[in-house]
Amino acid sequence: MPAELSPIDKAKFVAAKRAVDFIESGMKVGLGTGSTAAWMVRCLGERVRQEGLKIVGVPTSTRTAELARQCGIHVTSLDEAKWLDITIDGADEFDQNLALIKGGGAALLQEKIVATASDQMIVIADAAKEVQQLGAFPLPIEIIPFGWQTSKALVEEMLVSMDVLARDVTLRMNGERPLVTDESNYILDLHLKRISNPRQLALVLNQIPGVVENGLFIDICDIVIIGHGDGRVTVR
Ligand code: 5RP
Repeated sequence: MPAELSPIDKAKFVAAKRAVDFIESGMKVGLGTGSTAAWMVRCLGERVRQEGLKIVGVPTSTRTAELARQCGIHVTSLDEAKWLDITIDGADEFDQNLALIKGGGAALLQEKIVATASDQMIVIADAAKEVQQLGAFPLPIEIIPFGWQTSKALVEEMLVSMDVLARDVTLRMNGERPLVTDESNYILDLHLKRISNPRQLALVLNQIPGVVENGLFIDICDIVIIGHGDGRVTVR
């Protein structure tokens, strides 16, 4: 373990390290995005260097692709790999059904495509990400820039029609400008506080013209590996 880690980084590191034990030579591996996933990429790179592990990585963002290459991991596209053995990624929240909110790092679209194209998705998270009910973390949705204000209004209207009480919707910014994703889209963050029916909300959001994808991952995650600040790991 790297020396001098804060408890939160230690939690992320131990979860990442345990998840990498699931990877075997010959596997095609989806590489998630975010600070926890970055630990996983570093740990995987170490196994590639030290054990000569032969794997192919499919990154879920340009950031992850860059880090994976730096760590000596052979990187390819999903179209080249076609189907993956395993994807390991972080999450912003997970509940007891292993439903997730993702997209805090604005990579939800590629993350959902890659995880869905995998036999198994493992989520790695620090213990603070576990919730009774999803929604305290603002739900990100990816929308196309064309007519984004109309799409935002349609999302707000839909939330009213679903009797959602807390429904502040904000455009994610990068300084003075809208944040632009790897797919050249924008992100809306839905401040909902509680999501009573994640499955229904995920379906309804994706019906709105201009919405490309939402950050609710339902029935996609198979295992959550939880890291704790004292170095313990638990598995759900
Ligand atoms: C990126 C994501 C990340 O996995 C999520 O935001 C968790 O990030 P971190 O590990 O930095 O807390 O969904 O789009």
